Amino acid sequence: MFDKSQVIPIGSDHGAYELKAFLVDRLTGMGYRLKDVGTHSEASVDYPDFIHPVAKAVNDGIFPIGIIMCGSGQGASMTANKYPNVRAGLCWSLEQATLTRQHNNANIISPPGRFVDFDLALEMIVAFLNTEFEGDRHIQRINKIPIIHE
Ligand code: RB5
Repeated sequence: MFDKSQVIPIGSDHGAYELKAFLVDRLTGMGYRLKDVGTHSEASVDYPDFIHPVAKAVNDGIFPIGIIMCGSGQGASMTANKYPNVRAGLCWSLEQATLTRQHNNANIISPPGRFVDFDLALEMIVAFLNTEFEGDRHIQRINKIPIIHE
């Protein structure tokens, strides 16, 4: 069970601004503590500017888990996955949100703001937060992710 005293950083570009506003409202109402790094309007912005702060903080161990979003979820997850200690999962179903915790020990979830139902996104995030890594055979697999082949 996710410890609700822990702060969850959340960031998005304009493509997921509306979803972020919905999630901040609902998750806060459920007792989760969020650090909203923006964006704070629908004005066009560059998604890395709002994804790097979340990814860096998770990478550095300041927060255990983060939420990032852009319109497709692609640019957000690509940006976050540049950090060696980040495993960001692009998720658009409840099963994916659960599996990326169980099998990949994902520490960031990246729902696509323009391609997911808002209630489903909320359900996915709650499942993501409350699902444990299964360990076992998956440990050696995630340990191989950062090893670039020459
Ligand atoms: C913004 O229009 C869009 O390109 C962005 O939200 C995202 O989908 C990029 O990957």
